[in-house]
Amino acid sequence: MAGRRPLSTCWTLFLSLVILLGCFIIPGVSVKHENFKKCSQSGFCKRNRAYADDVSAKGASWSSPYELDSSSIQFKDGQLQGTILKSISAEEKVKLPLVVSFLESGVARVVIDEEKRINGDIELRHNSRARKERYNESEKWVIVGGLELSKSATVESETEAGVTKVLYGPENAYQAVIRHAPFDVEFKRDGQTHVQLNNKGYLNMEHWRPKVDAPEGDDEQKPEQEDEGTWWEETFGGNTDSKPRGPESVGLDITFPGYNHVFGIPEHADSMSLRETRGGSGNHDEPYRLYNADVFEYELNSPMTLYGAIPLMQAHRAGSTVGVFWLNAAETWIDIVKTTSTANPLSLGVGSKMDTQSHWFSEAGQIDLFVFLGPTPQEISKKYGELTGYTQLPQHFAIAYHQCRWNYITDEDVKDVDRNFDKYQIPYDVIWLDLEYLDDRKYFVWDPLTFPNPIGMEEQLDDTERKLVVLIDPHIKNKEKYAISEELQSKNLATLNKDGEIYEGWCWPGSSHWVDCFNPEARKWWKSLFKYEKFKGTLSNVFIWNDMNEPSVFNGPETTMPKDNLHHGNWEHRDIHNVNGITLVNATYDGLLERKKGELRRPFILTRSYYAGAQRMSAMWTGDNQATWEHLAMSLPMVLNNGISGFPFAGADVGGFFHNPSKDLLTRWYQTGIWYPFFRAHAHIDTRRREPYLISEPHRSIIAQAIRLRYQLLPAWYTAFHEASVNGTPIVRPQFYAHPSDEAGFAIDDQLYLGSTGILTKPVVSEGTTTAEIYIADDEKYYDYFDYTVYQGGGKRHTVPAPLEKVPILMQGGHVIPRKDRPRRSSGLMKWDPYTLVVVLDKNSEADGTLYVDDGETFDYERGAYIHRRFHYQDSALSSEDIGTQGPKTADYQKAMANVRVERVVVVDPPKEWQEKTIVTVIEDGAKIASTASIEYYDQQGGKAPYAVVKNPNVSIGKNWRIEF
Ligand SMILES: *[C@@H]1O[C@H](CO)[C@@H](O)[C@H](O)[C@H]1NC(C)=O
Ligand SMILES: *[C@@H]1O[C@H](CO)[C@@H](O)[C@H](O)[C@H]1NC(C)=O
Ligand SMILES: *[C@@H]1O[C@H](CO)[C@@H](O)[C@H](O)[C@H]1NC(C)=O
Repeated sequence: MAGRRPLSTCWTLFLSLVILLGCFIIPGVSVKHENFKKCSQSGFCKRNRAYADDVSAKGASWSSPYELDSSSIQFKDGQLQGTILKSISAEEKVKLPLVVSFLESGVARVVIDEEKRINGDIELRHNSRARKERYNESEKWVIVGGLELSKSATVESETEAGVTKVLYGPENAYQAVIRHAPFDVEFKRDGQTHVQLNNKGYLNMEHWRPKVDAPEGDDEQKPEQEDEGTWWEETFGGNTDSKPRGPESVGLDITFPGYNHVFGIPEHADSMSLRETRGGSGNHDEPYRLYNADVFEYELNSPMTLYGAIPLMQAHRAGSTVGVFWLNAAETWIDIVKTTSTANPLSLGVGSKMDTQSHWFSEAGQIDLFVFLGPTPQEISKKYGELTGYTQLPQHFAIAYHQCRWNYITDEDVKDVDRNFDKYQIPYDVIWLDLEYLDDRKYFVWDPLTFPNPIGMEEQLDDTERKLVVLIDPHIKNKEKYAISEELQSKNLATLNKDGEIYEGWCWPGSSHWVDCFNPEARKWWKSLFKYEKFKGTLSNVFIWNDMNEPSVFNGPETTMPKDNLHHGNWEHRDIHNVNGITLVNATYDGLLERKKGELRRPFILTRSYYAGAQRMSAMWTGDNQATWEHLAMSLPMVLNNGISGFPFAGADVGGFFHNPSKDLLTRWYQTGIWYPFFRAHAHIDTRRREPYLISEPHRSIIAQAIRLRYQLLPAWYTAFHEASVNGTPIVRPQFYAHPSDEAGFAIDDQLYLGSTGILTKPVVSEGTTTAEIYIADDEKYYDYFDYTVYQGGGKRHTVPAPLEKVPILMQGGHVIPRKDRPRRSSGLMKWDPYTLVVVLDKNSEADGTLYVDDGETFDYERGAYIHRRFHYQDSALSSEDIGTQGPKTADYQKAMANVRVERVVVVDPPKEWQEKTIVTVIEDGAKIASTASIEYYDQQGGKAPYAVVKNPNVSIGKNWRIEF
């Protein structure tokens, strides 16, 4: 869920007729373009694009009116401060305070504000109560660390008049070259320029000015004046935005010289390598837009906005990755243009002849930009995560399979679905309730007729360690005798309209109000609602889904709130729109943290709307997709792009939300969905039931196999989640991330690596296809996951068989992959199961891998209650060593896990001599004598590698041990 119901009553009638006539036609669906602004319909977008066009047209005859006042510059403790002067006329200059911070991490931050607005020295129109300043509180929601100023950054003694150079970063190998007039900045690493600000001259800070009403009868535009047509009130789709502060947008060009690929800035349904946006074949002609919105039946290959926004862009070329993070919560657009490189004639190689220019503009707020100089994709993940936080290590169940639909209609229905999964031996961990579990769409109140006994239902789920997730949205039904609504109003915790009255709009419950989680009192209240005694009918296995938090308002402009609505502190909705969604998630998270005193558990929340920082608290999904092959295919670049943008706990609705998938499509979707970090099936209320056990054979078994494959690899998944939670690395990784020097792979976004396991898969996402053309970058041997067929040869595609029943998966040589092979009903029931280790040897007969394990539930891992191992195979021996650090809870946890053992070791492609071997030596730490285990060698024909299986080495997963072959 959700999105508006697409079928009116007439439609339903019509459809029933069509079905009766036996000719079911899927209605042509596509987004209603007229509901969402094009750049030309958004005043500031149009103005900033026109500004760029004007600057380009004038060429050398034009000079940017922004100048850094040399006399204003001060440098102290890693921070440069000064004033940029914007020349309006010979006499009039606008003061724009500049702060450039050089951070200990090697990241630089550039902030530009406007003095008059900081001082509140402006007049608002329409008697508005809105704040006068530019919004500067995004960082409160987004930034959690990494702001320590560099102690070693220094200003180079001036060698050139009008240029300030700052040395910073590791060993001061970075340099910021700040030119005063016109103002521009170049960021260099090892003497080479990687990021340029305002070198195109598109810097634009729309300073405050009063509205001067033209004299009566004089509505003719004066030729020399700017076009004021979009400065003041703007109307779209019948809604008028009062814009009490007038024009206030900010814009800046950011160039990546020598970089041919840019990635990031989710959320868009588009390729991972971003396209140019100024027209031309294969390009977009609209900028990428970030304005969180409930886009009904969104279209593919589009720069249109979607539900979430992360304004992080990384530029990549062979051997170098750099990035920028544009911290601004207002509506934002980004143009991208690639040109032949002039700045970097020295760079060599196919992909490095290009410069990528990006042009960013936001409707309001400051310019607040972070610059990352890499040089690897991992460094960007790490540094960005230091600032915005890493992925929360989720509860273990959350990485297993989730079963959802709009809606399971009664508690008996839920119990029945639960029983059927068991009957058909299909594992699942979580069942979900969409909107219809509620009484009259009142959040926190169960429908007494359809869900008379929620506790009984939750207890049944708990018998197999299963969980329930229920929907709680930010719109609160405007109704008397509904306690939540009454409290929201009486305590003044709701978002206000421009006149300072409680804002009223339409959403699922009809007339609604919106909780304003910018207000600390509102968050405190919201938090309290999740206590078991408040949210009656919930047990500790109940978790939360925050939907519609863009916010979605059915009768609002662009299906959201008016921009002149007011939030806590009198900030306009315009200022905070894109962070709005995560304020709700923040409050929900704190609510779930401790629902009963002393019972501290990791929360699980799914959010639809998001911004940078959401990864600390939640998982996301790509919203209301459709049951088409094209939507299935698009899910991969979307999930991959989210991963490299710091929010890897991502997935798409398996099966497609709207419409009924064919059995083949559903099957292929499960085989793809098992590679989403967040793996959930979901369906619209008007679709047919499609729980996997309802599908006829052979599809049912094939789907069940796919889900079991996910469960088998859960140890590897959880280890990848752990890595994301400490290093920010994506859980599933695109080709460029794994092979950053292989140019042929940079744009590949339809195959992925699972964490650091060397598992490479390319799910089948087109109809009737029975092979996968998997691209291999390196010269390692790759082995088919199931039968060990060998594929070798870097820089080309290899044809891997992929009939309907097969997920094409390869294992790169050189890895140890942890698995749990015993099928169970839920992941909770696998907790004490033994492990299988798959050792895939590389060209040098070596292999490496890691495993992270904890209780999957509490925060005890923060006090050492976890197992973190490195497995290493070398010189015919496999060893396990501890790579964790001890904490007060380590010993107890290790003790509890002592009987969790390795039951099998599979060695892929061992030397031929092993044919003779029958036993291996097993040495476990603490054991008095070495023991032995049996080994069996299996030769194979037809391009398949041999393998050997060690049976029951019976070493403890948490101990040091060594197996000698
Ligand atoms: C925002 O600006 C105000 C006024 O200039 C200042 O007092 C405040 O510290 C700033 N907040 C942040 C987070 O920088
Ligand atoms: C929610 O926001 C508040 C205020 O910024 C912060 O103190 C708190 O840590 C946040 N909670 C989470 C889970 O990020
Ligand atoms: C594995 O080793 C443990 C501890 O030495 C022992 O208790 C257990 O019986 C062994 N299991 C098997 C299957 O050999």
